[in-house]
Amino acid sequence: MILLAIETSCDETSAAVVSGARVLANAVSSQIQLHAEYGGVVPELAAREHLKNLMPVVQTALREAGVTTGQLDAVAATQGPGLPLALLVGFKAAQALAFVLQKPFLGINHHEAHLYSPWIAGSPPVADFAAFEPNVSLIVSGGHTMLVRVTSELQHSVLGSTLDDAAGECFDKAGKLMGLPYPAGPEIDRLAQTGNPQAYDFPRPLIHEANDDFSFSGLKTSVRYFIRDHPEVLADPQKIRDLCASVQAAIIEVLVSKTIRATRRLGYRCVTASGGVTCNGALRRELARACAARGFQLRLAEKSLCTDNAAMIGILAECKLAHHFPPPALDEDIKTAWALA
Ligand code: KG4
Ligand code: ZN
Repeated sequence: MILLAIETSCDETSAAVVSGARVLANAVSSQIQLHAEYGGVVPELAAREHLKNLMPVVQTALREAGVTTGQLDAVAATQGPGLPLALLVGFKAAQALAFVLQKPFLGINHHEAHLYSPWIAGSPPVADFAAFEPNVSLIVSGGHTMLVRVTSELQHSVLGSTLDDAAGECFDKAGKLMGLPYPAGPEIDRLAQTGNPQAYDFPRPLIHEANDDFSFSGLKTSVRYFIRDHPEVLADPQKIRDLCASVQAAIIEVLVSKTIRATRRLGYRCVTASGGVTCNGALRRELARACAARGFQLRLAEKSLCTDNAAMIGILAECKLAHHFPPPALDEDIKTAWALA
């Protein structure tokens, strides 16, 4: 089975070729520079950029994989959730290709693909997966923050989700208040390395609540008030680094604490994490420390596969086809707010 996957849900145009649970190519063209000057993703610009980049990115993936369209056995694309115009570009192009090739087409849930991204690198994911069943999976990105209970391959249920802002959104909005470029997550991560996480005290929303939900909009607001009341902090490079470290520590403590608590409550011993925020060095370290302290196994998505990419779409699509999930009809539409069950 050789499958071509396309991902255009937000600001990354990506195409991947997968075969036998292995990634033969994963081409990603990021639009970050384009949106940085607006301080966030502009949906119409994103869609136009996808239109411009999709064909070159698909050609790159096919060339790197050494595969022609005639050799493809199936085509998949992100069906949702995501920005409507951006999703449409990749989804409809993939459907058209499948139609022309007369091959199966699969629409994939973006969050479900993140969920399986920790299994991509190394040995085939299916072989590894059984050793990690059951597990609690943290999906933490710019669009979502959720905890998912994974009982076995392709069997999962959402335990809790963000009630407002996602953790990545909190990184980005807090950074914007500090005058950092978009997306601020990676920049806060970098500056926090030489900052004091105890310099300023920020709330840890819902950390003691007996549920698996998250809320980050209050934390963002407290950063806004802190900067309003202490504008001098932004004039001192060391204080900016301390502020970054303190905000990051608050976000990470909530994420790690709730992940570990859910795992313990369920009596599970395995944790996985994925999504753009999983690139964060401190989050990776803290999850590793907390899991080691309790004898839990931890599997993190590779940094290059944490942010949006088509490899995760392709790996999940191939797995679904292997398990005989019925492919949708070629006239299916995008699902912009498709919630993970
Ligand atoms: O998964 P992703 O590429 O897109 C969505 O599906 O949302 O995640 C992007 C998010 C952005 O909010 C970005 O700031 C955040 O991931 N991010 C980070 C880091 N790298 C990316 N946040 C904190 N630390 C990082 N190193
Ligand atoms: Zn994503």
